[in-house]
Amino acid sequence: MNFLSGKHIVVGVCGSIAGYKSAELVRLARAAGARVRVVMTPSAGEFVGARTFQALSGEPVWQHWSDDRSGMDHIELARWADRILVAPATADRVARLAEGRADDLLGAICLASQAPLLIAPAMNQAMWQHPATQENLARLRQRGVHICGPAEGEQACGEVGPGRMLEPATLVQSLVDSFRSGVLAGLKVVVTAGPTREAIDPVRYLSNRSSGKMGYAVAAAAREAGAEVTLVSGPVALAPPPGVALRRVESAEEMLAATLPLARECDIFIAAAAVADFRPSTPAASKLKRQAGGRSLALEPAADVLAGVAALPQAPFCIGFAAETDDLERQAQMKRISKGVDMIAANLVGPGLGFDSDENSLLLVWEGGQTRLEKDTKTRLATRLIECAAQRFRARQATKESHAKHTTESTR
Ligand SMILES: Cc1cc2nc3c(=O)[nH]c(=O)nc-3n(C[C@H](O)[C@H](O)[C@H](O)COP(=O)(O)O)c2cc1C
Repeated sequence: MNFLSGKHIVVGVCGSIAGYKSAELVRLARAAGARVRVVMTPSAGEFVGARTFQALSGEPVWQHWSDDRSGMDHIELARWADRILVAPATADRVARLAEGRADDLLGAICLASQAPLLIAPAMNQAMWQHPATQENLARLRQRGVHICGPAEGEQACGEVGPGRMLEPATLVQSLVDSFRSGVLAGLKVVVTAGPTREAIDPVRYLSNRSSGKMGYAVAAAAREAGAEVTLVSGPVALAPPPGVALRRVESAEEMLAATLPLARECDIFIAAAAVADFRPSTPAASKLKRQAGGRSLALEPAADVLAGVAALPQAPFCIGFAAETDDLERQAQMKRISKGVDMIAANLVGPGLGFDSDENSLLLVWEGGQTRLEKDTKTRLATRLIECAAQRFRARQATKESHAKHTTESTR
């Protein structure tokens, strides 16, 4: 299952016998959908070859300062990473991380990155139990570093005890779990995504350039946040995110018909689909033939899915997307008011931005506030959008509850 789809993982490999397990770790993380870049310490190369990691990750491998191709690779890798997993982490690496040293590439990346850090220690049981190691680990834990394992058992040195690196599949699960925030736990979320197709005749349609990537990323982020998610999707070439219920539709009308009953039961509705504004008034029953002098097409308004949901008597918390070519802030607030929704996620469309791109930037606006999410991958933007949506949803709930309390008290 693609539980790490779109995620950027830096795997740090240190000088330990357990380094051979990191090859499998990289393979499994990629199989789970992640992009993986491996950074080896200089001594790790004595245990496993860089080529193994290069082949398995499908990316360059960084080991020495001389591998820093742009002169700033360590900073770029630090920014690129959604998570850094050091596996195996030697006793020496644990000490270096605790001290915050940056005298090799891996140390510098860990220090320069804001991404959560996970480490999977691997060492002799006496090294693990030594007070120096335990003190270093306590410092790391205090700073929010996630210590994965170690497991207990027979060691390469013949001793038995704690210090074995966790198995690669368990570490991939730790990565997956590290993305699960729980901010939407217990809530039902409906997301629409992709374009719609409005029939001209049985073989032709009107549509748009939406790839569905943003909506699919939002559905995946809502699932990671603990929600029960249904994705209502127009025709796209994307695999559904794991754990998300999928309803496929074609036209705006079908999208509205599929969405309304789901929206009546949900807490948050996110309209990321690029629903057609117009559709042919009278689709032909049989294929239109080529004719001299051309043809004109009469159009009528298509179903407005977002407005339809927002007009429900017990409407969920509604978030709409707005693709604009100019004056983003004003257009976003105008759309929020005209559609009667709680939040608008607006983005500029143009070359390299918006439709069919892997990157985007968003302006989130709500009544009395806004926040700008700078250009980033759609996966990361979706996570931040969901965090903001969770906050706004809770704020609206709190206001509703206080109104209800006030009304009850004043009618007593
Ligand atoms: C054969 C061999 C196996 C080793 N295995 C480990 C190990 O599993 N854990 C550990 O903490 N150190 C181990 N070491 C020692 C580390 O390689 C050494 O501390 C090194 O400086 C670690 O550097 P690094 O963390 O930058 O890779 C081993 C050394 C050798 C020669």
